[in-house]
Amino acid sequence: MEMDKKGKILVTGGAGFIGANFVKFLLRSEPRARIINFDALTYAGNIENLSDVLGDSRHEFVHGDIRDKAGVGAVFARGGIACVINFAAESHVDRSLDSPDSFVQTNVLGCLNLLEAARRHGVARFVQISTDEVYGSLLPGEAAFTEESPIRPNSPYSASKASADHLARAYHHSYGLDTVVTRCSNNYGPMQFPEKMIPLCINNAFNGRKIPVYGDGMQVRDWLHVEDHCSAVWEVCRKGRAGEVYNIGGACQTTNLDLVRAILRECGRDESLVSFVKDRPGHDRRYAMDFTKLNKETGWKPRHEFEKGLADTVKWYSSNKGWLEHVSSGEYKGYYEKMYSNR
Ligand SMILES: NC(=O)c1ccc[n+]([C@@H]2O[C@H](COP(=O)([O-])OP(=O)(O)OC[C@H]3O[C@@H](n4cnc5c(N)ncnc54)[C@H](O)[C@@H]3O)[C@@H](O)[C@H]2O)c1
Repeated sequence: MEMDKKGKILVTGGAGFIGANFVKFLLRSEPRARIINFDALTYAGNIENLSDVLGDSRHEFVHGDIRDKAGVGAVFARGGIACVINFAAESHVDRSLDSPDSFVQTNVLGCLNLLEAARRHGVARFVQISTDEVYGSLLPGEAAFTEESPIRPNSPYSASKASADHLARAYHHSYGLDTVVTRCSNNYGPMQFPEKMIPLCINNAFNGRKIPVYGDGMQVRDWLHVEDHCSAVWEVCRKGRAGEVYNIGGACQTTNLDLVRAILRECGRDESLVSFVKDRPGHDRRYAMDFTKLNKETGWKPRHEFEKGLADTVKWYSSNKGWLEHVSSGEYKGYYEKMYSNR
């Protein structure tokens, strides 16, 4: 797909963990990129994540909700959007078990609003950011998921993401909209909300608090540094074939317990902080991604080696304790309103 060089890229969810990393990655690596960053600033969105790029004329932040059809339509009606990259989502599995409604509202209906607006306004490419969790769970020794693996979501979160994937596919087949779907394994790196496993462990280890480990801790995840995810998404956006799905993975499978041990070592703590807790209902046992298709078509592979990436991540949280404190205390929630009222 040839992207219109003059067109803007609409990034949704760009104040969250991966979206904010992506916005910065794009501004760094594509000097001509112009981004509209559309984010509702839910509990997971943090304008502080963008403090170093808010003054960049190539980046415009728009406070908006993808569930709001009129608000979405208004951004597209301004014209000039060549491409949509949809990161906006409710993303935490535990929250989806407590309140699935908001997951369907944002992840399914919000995505539908974006697809519909993209179709009406002749957008050249729509990238739907999805997850390995749509494939369900693997048994030990089973081959990694390929793009042909059956879709078998096990949580309301993964079911809502799978629904959005199907909508993206249907918009390509029914209306000819140029959509691609990326499915990525677990990410780690700077600016991840500390309810997620790695920053939660790091934060607790810094503060000498217990680290909860679900069940026996033998669940296997395939970890990828967020910058590698960003570069993969950009490769798919530029070179992926319309209507296709691309798996993204880290080729780095580890059990949750080994991961917690590695974090404790990095933080200079011992294993007495490990606290086994009752397993999450329906907890998937193992994920692993086969990303041969992406590698063959674009040459992409992960650059960050896991041990070094994890050590750098611990260093980032250690050097940004203010960020962790603002998020943990809830202080970050008022930042956008404060900035806005000072203008
Ligand atoms: N974190 C991972 O390991 C991982 C792995 C694979 C795929 N993904 C996918 O990547 C995407 C980003 O994940 P993340 O970890 O950065 O999530 P996150 O929870 O850190 O960020 C989500 C962002 O979306 C925004 N948002 C939520 N609802 C919105 C709405 N209705 N309208 C507009 N903005 C809204 C939030 O304010 C936040 O900024 C998600 O689609 C997720 O499913 C995440």
